[in-house]
Amino acid sequence: MEAKIVTLPGDGISPEVVAEAVKVMDRVAEAFGHSFEYEEALIGGAAIDATGEALPAETLEKCLASDGVLLGAVGDWKYSDPKAPVRPEQGLLALRKGMGVFANLRPVKLYKELLHASTIKPEVIENVDLMVVRELTGGLYFGKRGREKVDGDEAAYDTMYYTAREVERVVRVAFDLAGKRRGKVTSVDKANVLENSRLWRETATRVAEDYPNVEFESMYVDIAAMRLIRYPEVFDVMVTTNMFGDILTDEASMIAGSMGMLPSGAIGEKKPGLFEPIHGSAPKYKGQNVVNPIATILSAAMLLRHSLELEKEAQAIENAVQKVLSDGFRTRDIREEGTELVGTKEMGDLVAERISNA
Ligand code: IPM
Ligand code: MG
Repeated sequence: MEAKIVTLPGDGISPEVVAEAVKVMDRVAEAFGHSFEYEEALIGGAAIDATGEALPAETLEKCLASDGVLLGAVGDWKYSDPKAPVRPEQGLLALRKGMGVFANLRPVKLYKELLHASTIKPEVIENVDLMVVRELTGGLYFGKRGREKVDGDEAAYDTMYYTAREVERVVRVAFDLAGKRRGKVTSVDKANVLENSRLWRETATRVAEDYPNVEFESMYVDIAAMRLIRYPEVFDVMVTTNMFGDILTDEASMIAGSMGMLPSGAIGEKKPGLFEPIHGSAPKYKGQNVVNPIATILSAAMLLRHSLELEKEAQAIENAVQKVLSDGFRTRDIREEGTELVGTKEMGDLVAERISNA
């Protein structure tokens, strides 16, 4: 097949990891007889430097006209002042909203080779295979916010706002996925305190009736945070709000041993989807060839699966990653005694070499 993929190299270490993912996709194209055409566009700090805007209109247009978008990460120290008028993160949020990708799939899978790279006990995490579906274009991230003076004091507010339809569509994505997995959905909220969560729970419970073959439970977010590190193997699909999902997936990444291992893919009603590692731009490590490109490489696999419907090709990437790990190669974040330390580029080469169409 022919596909047009937009790459958004972004900030910090992100151009380095995106380059490795492209290297691997090129190898897939070669092995499976596809033709992928890439177009690069600006976002985040890189876009602010070049145009003054975190998401230039041209970038969004290119993304919407593509078959899939692969993003690294945005953010740089240069823009870390919380009072800065334009911030790299605004570009990311505007892109998610602009593309309408409301369901962010964040799989957490533990490679057995990394069992000891996690700070959590091996027996707790050895059977983990879960998927967090994070709502991505609403909630606290997009609700009304502002500042005001109250009795001479400065105050600030952000609003957690969802319509029932917004809840329903993301919950349906979770149920559809669970049907193809182990058949269980856990909806995470704070319905004992928040009105918004009561609407969330009511809606999720109603949607659950349409899926009699999928087991359903609702759980408070504080308990979910605890169970995620105490009994992570009991979860199959977790579905939750934008804010709770952001927090729970950083926590969940520690099960997999490193943030450098976790991919994500955001999908909406229409194609294309937006695929990005869950980690940030790590400006501290920029240009040193030390970070782990696997999260971005696995995000490319998700792009092939969810936007191009190339399931075999996606699995070829996942299998290649598995082989590299079992052959004993590690980047610094997942290093252990007895393994061979490699850099970002070498890790990309090692994965690419192991892509096979057999
Ligand atoms: C993520 C990140 C972003 C988010 C930041 C960079 C705005 O933490 O993708 O998880 O909060 O969504
Ligand atoms: Mg986050």
